[in-house]
Amino acid sequence: TGKARTAYVCGECGAEYSKWQGQCGECSAWNSLSQVVLEPASGPGPATPAARRGGWAGKVDPPKVTALKDVSQAAEVRVSTGIGELDRVLGGGLVEGAVVLVGGDPGIGKSTLLLQAVAKMAAQLPALYVTGEESLAQVAGRAVRLDLPLDNLQALAETGVESILHHAAEAKPRLIVADSVQTLWTETLTAAPGSVSQVRESAARLVRYAKETGTAVFLVGHVTKEGGIAGPRVLEHMVDAVLYFEGESGSRFRVLRAFKNRFGAVNELGVFAMGEKGLKEVPNPSAIFLSGSSRQPGSCVMVTREGTRPLLVEVQALVDSSPLSNPRRVAVGLEQNRLAMLLAVLHRHGGVAVGDQDVFVNVVGGIRVQETAADLPVLLAVLSSLRDQPLPDKTIAFGEVGLSGEIRPVPNGEERLREAATHGFRRAIVPKANAPRSGTKYKDLEVIAVERLADALEHA
Ligand code: TYD
Ligand code: MG
Repeated sequence: TGKARTAYVCGECGAEYSKWQGQCGECSAWNSLSQVVLEPASGPGPATPAARRGGWAGKVDPPKVTALKDVSQAAEVRVSTGIGELDRVLGGGLVEGAVVLVGGDPGIGKSTLLLQAVAKMAAQLPALYVTGEESLAQVAGRAVRLDLPLDNLQALAETGVESILHHAAEAKPRLIVADSVQTLWTETLTAAPGSVSQVRESAARLVRYAKETGTAVFLVGHVTKEGGIAGPRVLEHMVDAVLYFEGESGSRFRVLRAFKNRFGAVNELGVFAMGEKGLKEVPNPSAIFLSGSSRQPGSCVMVTREGTRPLLVEVQALVDSSPLSNPRRVAVGLEQNRLAMLLAVLHRHGGVAVGDQDVFVNVVGGIRVQETAADLPVLLAVLSSLRDQPLPDKTIAFGEVGLSGEIRPVPNGEERLREAATHGFRRAIVPKANAPRSGTKYKDLEVIAVERLADALEHA
């Protein structure tokens, strides 16, 4: 057994220091360090769920050194959450002993989603919903309003981690939802609940419990203005998966995205619609990100591929002469630096100058597009706004734009074209290498294959 150590942790990036300092050496944030108490270095450390077979059944083997060739390669044990879109984002269901952090703005629907999931899962395995934000009466009221089955669902209104773990040890749930990490606190620290050290240490205890018992844990976390969960980005390193729940205010659609996932891909999207009866899955979300105004100047529809599904998404641009000596470039749902780069390529290789213009680009529906296939649609939308001319009716585009003005292919071109054709689009401006071999037809879709940015602009 060792003595409890203290350390200083940066609330912005999670870097750890043995001494206090005014500025974080990792992320350069000022005054972001706070003291945390580290556990004494004794007792069993965390083990991977895979090393602890039988976790869902509650039986746990002690860890031991093993020749890798003797390890059985059984896939992780997964259970369905009963919500297909959530399973998809998790990589095919919830893995035993996995700790999943679900982050998002207050009011986005985190509690609703997890209450729906835990109520469905409770039919298969003992589950415990721990709330630190609402009373049990509020939770029960919501569950009834959502027509959720209540028979097997255990709930606990508690914020003290020691008490939560005590109850868990007795009730032996195989799944715990803790809503939210910001309300949790542990007796071992004197810091206030919600402080970096409390959130970190409380979450660490739940993680340790999950790994020791094979219990799956969902942690709910509110996102701060800076975008990190609860300030302490530390949580992101401690958990197996981080899911963000996003949506535009005013829109009923919600997108769940894996930001980190030890058990699956990180680019899968889950799509939901918030309604009277809570969150409904949108298993076929292709067309919901179209604003219906794609005949306006400054709009271009692209086919993006997030995870395993193609999605039709509208990109909007507004180009306006700038009063500033340093005109603005604002990208919402896209990477800011990429926009600046694309505008430079547009000038150098497309002969279109926007140096004295403000450029705003927005992806409709509050989703974030991370792939380079958005390059060409972004530039077509910018050009359309600059010229104040809509693109030809029923046109889609996708393609990466290189620094020398070449249009590069993107993965799964055929699937994207098929999706566009299915939704009645007539023209597709796409990289040459993504164009179908002669003879292949996609309904009434005319495919315009382009090699250079200048060609693409001409066709638009
Ligand atoms: P909630 O799950 O409490 O959000 P979070 O836990 O992320 O803070 O969701 C709250 C919002 O969702 C609230 O503004 C009302 C809305 N809502 C519905 O529209 N329909 C419903 O059936 C429910 C339960 C909530
Ligand atoms: Mg909530």
